[in-house]
Amino acid sequence: MNEAQVRDLVESKLAVIPDFPEPGVVFRDLTPVFADGPTFRALSEALTAPFAGRFDHLAGLEARGFLLAGAASALSGAGVLPVRKGGKLPRAVLREEYDLEYGTAALEVHEDELPPGSRVLIVDDVLATGGTVEAAATLIERAGWRVAGVSVAIELLDLGGRARLGDAVEIHSVLRY
Ligand code: PRP
Ligand code: MG
Repeated sequence: MNEAQVRDLVESKLAVIPDFPEPGVVFRDLTPVFADGPTFRALSEALTAPFAGRFDHLAGLEARGFLLAGAASALSGAGVLPVRKGGKLPRAVLREEYDLEYGTAALEVHEDELPPGSRVLIVDDVLATGGTVEAAATLIERAGWRVAGVSVAIELLDLGGRARLGDAVEIHSVLRY
């Protein structure tokens, strides 16, 4: 299946909900994509295909990124680095705080989870302002690994995530709005 066919298939399953979670926001819900096996598989393959041979591990960003990174792991054979919300991991962690619309949140990784120099492809469902991916990328670099790229199902163009992450990192999105 080529990229355009994957895009059409995923888009045909995507649920579009106006005014959620607040008036004026259009929410694009991937749960019907996850619920359809062939579509979920096609999306998961499309996330890693552009980076074939250029990554050793997939970083899945809690929570929705876990689904995509897990599926892409089974298809590609690369292991998963769980990038967790703060306070969940039991061993020594690195922690990065990032801004939400109201307040802050934190992401953490086990500092010794991967071998030094591992090439890590960051996987998430949505790139919006880029704060979540930026925090994950900082963690990966602080741990002594390398960011192989960023791959997301949906990129929300108006929210500036791509500009925030800069030219140094290769970003792939399956759908763009
Ligand atoms: C959502 C989404 C992305 C992030 C994108 O996660 O899943 O991870 O926001 O926004 P940003 O680019 O502005 O950082 P959220 O933490 O809301 O929820 P989740 O735990 O369901 O993934
Ligand atoms: Mg998320």
